Amino acid sequence: MTATAQDIRDAARRLREGGLVAFPTETVYGLGADALNEHAVAAVFRLKGRPANNPLIVHVADVAAARALTPRWDARAEAIARAFWPGPVSIIVPRGERVPDLVTAGGPGVALRCPRHPVALALLREVGLPLVGPSANPSGRVSPTTAQHVREAFEGLMVLDGGPCEGGIESTVVSLMGPTPVVLRPGLVSAEALGLVLDEPVGIGPGEATAHGAMASPGLLASHYAPRAPVVLVDAAGVASALARAPGGRAAALVLGESAITGPGVTRILMPAGAGAYAARLYAALREADALDPSLIVVEEPGGGSSDPLWVAIRDRLARAAAARP
Ligand code: TXA
Ligand code: MG
Repeated sequence: MTATAQDIRDAARRLREGGLVAFPTETVYGLGADALNEHAVAAVFRLKGRPANNPLIVHVADVAAARALTPRWDARAEAIARAFWPGPVSIIVPRGERVPDLVTAGGPGVALRCPRHPVALALLREVGLPLVGPSANPSGRVSPTTAQHVREAFEGLMVLDGGPCEGGIESTVVSLMGPTPVVLRPGLVSAEALGLVLDEPVGIGPGEATAHGAMASPGLLASHYAPRAPVVLVDAAGVASALARAPGGRAAALVLGESAITGPGVTRILMPAGAGAYAARLYAALREADALDPSLIVVEEPGGGSSDPLWVAIRDRLARAAAARP
């Protein structure tokens, strides 16, 4: 069911009162709160169990709202916004004084994004405030791509239902804090596409961002996007032997072809071959796998080593899901 105009008005009222509301975007569902209200932002950190050193993305209705949150909306920011907003790109620019410390984790930059989802845009316009919007999941876990995913994690939270997210993985995060633009988190919009719009090369990776003096993003580095069960990422030839090593023989496997061998305790989840469809399906599939309470989730590495930016972003998320847990 999709949120009605009345639902959006109710949500806006709740947000203005300092409450929390989950909302759909074209990437994943976000946990919304008034970005200018410290108490509301603190409640977001508490509900997610998010470390205070991991900054939040601020969602805005349009470029005018973005400009109001930074003293430096330069030609690069304008060019990216013109090309990709509303859409899955978060732009880190110097923070304005109105932005609470909590939002930026005390850092000098604030990430701004105008999402491309009719419900998100209607909500932002109705509420007339910038909204923080971390993915609406407990910190470190798999992001939600349906309203039901959010409800399962946060009982009693108001959720605006906008249907399944079409993008499926989180926005590209690009920092304009240093002399060279740097992608801190790969996403649906590639560094190459940003570079074409900016007419200059765009770096990749938090390492470079740190070298350029931008703040590190803890959430971009650590194990993240993780189901409860351990995840291993293997190539097609390695699926069978990885499954054979699953403790107790209970395993789930996200595979690309019919050929992958299975055993009695193994549930096979067939994934789409195309990058767009794979991204849209990924988090729901990881949740389905996890719900089987397996001792191991085996993921056949998709994309055949393709350098297609979307496959790169997908493999980035898979690598984080499979990374050693703290
Ligand atoms: O697609 C998305 O971006 C979704 C939807 C709901 O908009 N939101 C999202 O938020 O993924 P979150 O909080 O789950 O991830 C934001 C990432 C974090 O890894 C955080 O460290 C980084 O962006 N980030 C946010 N603000 C930052 C800043 N000022 N400087 C550096 N990194 C920042
Ligand atoms: Mg997140």
